[in-house]
Amino acid sequence: MNTTNTDINMHEEIQGADLSVPAPLQEPLRQYYFLKRARAWTAEKEEELGRPLTCHVTTFGCQMNARDSEKLLGILKEAGYEETDSEEADFVIYNTCTVRENANLRVYGRLGVLHGYKKKNPHMKIALCGCMMQEPDVVEKLKKSYSFVDLIFGTHNIFKFAELLAAMQESDRTIIDIWKDTDQIVEDLPVERKYPFKSGVNIMFGCNNFCSYCIVPYVRGRERSREPEEILKEIRHLVDDGVKEVMLLGQNVNSYGKNLDTPMSFAGLLREAVKIDGLERIRFMTSHPKDLSDDLIRVMAESEKICRHLHLPLQSGSSRILKIMNRRYTKEQYLALAERIRAAVPDIALTTDIIVGFPGETEEDFQETLDVVRRVRYDSAFTFIYSKRTGTPAAAMEDQVPEDVVKDRFDRLLKEVQEISKEMAERFTGSCQSVLVEEKNSQMEGYVTGRLSNNHVVHFCAPESLIGQIVNVRLDECRGFYYMGSLLDGPDTPV
Ligand code: SAH
Ligand code: SF4
Ligand code: F3S
Repeated sequence: MNTTNTDINMHEEIQGADLSVPAPLQEPLRQYYFLKRARAWTAEKEEELGRPLTCHVTTFGCQMNARDSEKLLGILKEAGYEETDSEEADFVIYNTCTVRENANLRVYGRLGVLHGYKKKNPHMKIALCGCMMQEPDVVEKLKKSYSFVDLIFGTHNIFKFAELLAAMQESDRTIIDIWKDTDQIVEDLPVERKYPFKSGVNIMFGCNNFCSYCIVPYVRGRERSREPEEILKEIRHLVDDGVKEVMLLGQNVNSYGKNLDTPMSFAGLLREAVKIDGLERIRFMTSHPKDLSDDLIRVMAESEKICRHLHLPLQSGSSRILKIMNRRYTKEQYLALAERIRAAVPDIALTTDIIVGFPGETEEDFQETLDVVRRVRYDSAFTFIYSKRTGTPAAAMEDQVPEDVVKDRFDRLLKEVQEISKEMAERFTGSCQSVLVEEKNSQMEGYVTGRLSNNHVVHFCAPESLIGQIVNVRLDECRGFYYMGSLLDGPDTPV
């Protein structure tokens, strides 16, 4: 990968930190200081053990968590750790999610396994961060029953990871640092991307919507947008470093920029981003239907760079339930919006999230959801069983739906969604599409896997050297959730 000027400056700043004086208060200089200190500790330990120290970051949550994990790994590498695929490492951090209870349970289950590794390796350190740590009950439970954990911090102070890492290295006691909220956004910290050719870019943090079932606003705090110049600078830097595709990330990208000193709309930000030379594709996640503007639809229709995919969470098709969910749109408004989008961008793939079994959901309400599914005809849909999250208004609602009823509805919904997705995918069979080659196919020798602008996946025979390139592929056959295709031409390998 290229090393860009920004990277060089950051390395110089870290190297230049003066450890003989107290840490500076200003960010990110303070973190650079602690990075240098952590690196010195790691080097000493390496010397003592006669081997490099290894680290592993495990992500449990959404794309935003995945992006946070890249920041954690950036710090760890800068602090002298080597990444390993295994959780049997000298430093393991779980970046947790708590959006549904099963995300939570998985963490506890796997912590038991980590404890086993730690008993074998006395140098091992275990850290926990992310959304689950913002719940006081969780931290209490960890203190009581999981005292082998060395470091616990939350979502608001993740920018302080270098400082917390250094403190953990130098201490034998568990370090716990959880903030209730923050208005700070710290820029220019190291990041280690998973893919050289694509990257997530945070455009905002937190959420102000308070959908009545959702814990995210409580664990991620109030909505804060990054300055457009910072976002565009980051994208330019990524493009200089080989990135072709960015995914702009926020819990509700459609309300981007409203609270900036100089307000800017999400459509406005996209208009600036498409101008960046060398950037070939732009995706974004997630759009709240209530804030999706006609201007956004216009920008999507105008620019080929903006991917032909829109994730538009429905949650429920019943206006009555949507109201109690505090989603602030009706079934009719949602349907009209989906229609406007399809009319303006006919080849767009629409995907969604649906919750089944929200408190008080009746069979009639559920039928409304099925009706929207049949009318919108989603290219794919994530379906979730409602999960009660402590502290949210819905958790206190009476008439929670019995488990067997929910399960039955869930199965019926899934069947419907899958049949429609299959039929929808067929409409592209035979067409030629531009594809970003993402990886070697693990099942078929000589094949690679790539992604279409509309987020569908295609497998085709091509050399691995094309990974990271955008090529033209004919979609020969649709196999439900993916295509088999043939390479038409590569950037420099005509076939
Ligand atoms: N900000 C995004 C969603 C983030 S959470 C949005 O508003 O679209 C991702 C998905 O998890 C949600 O869309 C919702 O479908 C689901 N979800 C959130 N809370 C849930 C809960 N308590 N039970 C079940 N599913 C939930
Ligand atoms: Fe949760 Fe609603 Fe915010 Fe999405 S918009 S994160 S579902 S509160
Ligand atoms: Fe989970 Fe937090 Fe994302 S709760 S879905 S990781 S914002």
